[in-house]
Amino acid sequence: MINTRSLKGRDFLVTADFTKEELTAMLNKASQIKSEVKCGNYLRPYLQGKSVALLFQKPSTRTRISFDVGVYQLGGHPIYLSWNDLQLGRGETVADTGRTFDCYVDGIVARVFKHTDLETMAQVARAPVINALSDSSHPCQALGDCLTIMEKLGKIEGANVAFVGDGNDNVCRSLAEAVMRLGGNMTIASPRKYMAPDDYLSTLERLAAKGSKLTTTDDPKAAVKEADVIYTDVWVSMGQDAEAQERKSTMKPFQVNSSLMAAAPKNSVFMHCLPAHRGEEVTDDVIDSRNSVVWDQAENRLHAQKGIMALLF
Ligand code: CP
Ligand code: NVA
Repeated sequence: MINTRSLKGRDFLVTADFTKEELTAMLNKASQIKSEVKCGNYLRPYLQGKSVALLFQKPSTRTRISFDVGVYQLGGHPIYLSWNDLQLGRGETVADTGRTFDCYVDGIVARVFKHTDLETMAQVARAPVINALSDSSHPCQALGDCLTIMEKLGKIEGANVAFVGDGNDNVCRSLAEAVMRLGGNMTIASPRKYMAPDDYLSTLERLAAKGSKLTTTDDPKAAVKEADVIYTDVWVSMGQDAEAQERKSTMKPFQVNSSLMAAAPKNSVFMHCLPAHRGEEVTDDVIDSRNSVVWDQAENRLHAQKGIMALLF
């Protein structure tokens, strides 16, 4: 057990910044808050009297709603801010915007294109900055997904997680960082062209807990053969529309469909961060099957983020 006071005031930009013990503390806090909600103890005043800026440069359904509701349920005041409605849209710098936020709010949650914009904001603001998705990572999704894996499998240590599709995807990266830190095994199945670069894969291996293994392949059936979890995400992420045709045709053999699921163990769980492009990276019969836990994942975003905010803000 670690002293969670060391997490107060920290930024949450990438899962890789946190130790196994720190990620476990956040997951435990999330589980605790989730079980309290189930017992009817709804409002926990972790954020009483605190205001949190929710800045979005890209569209969002789950992240936007779960942070808004989560801040409210912890007793705080969420302020949704659309990038283009702020002076940012007219050219005010990210650094000056971050300094301005710091005059008013106690926490900043931001979804941006460039990850460096989050780093800039974190540098200038004393208030903790939480990454609500950037082009390179989605750590809140990873925490929610680890909570779901723990609930479905009982533990992450030793779990075999196979991500099939875009191997350099922001969701895949954060999931791999968290799973390997927490002692699970990660397999990434992707066309070579879209696999994460070698230097990043080496970083992932350095992060790994003792005994956890990283495998990369361009054979989706081999990837899922021993998988407890089969995960996919869209082939065309926000901001990649110019490459849409090329991405869709190259990744077609990586679709998660009933034939791929038949190559996996019978009880393996299907996961997707959502939104899904049904008929592209996943078929209806898989996402709507009994093996699919996508709605548990969506719900766990709320609990995981409450755990993160309770400890950091
Ligand atoms: N999974 C996820 O982050 O969804 P949104 O883009 O709807 O927030
Ligand atoms: N990889 C996707 C995730 C959306 C939640 C994107 O960045 O668009």
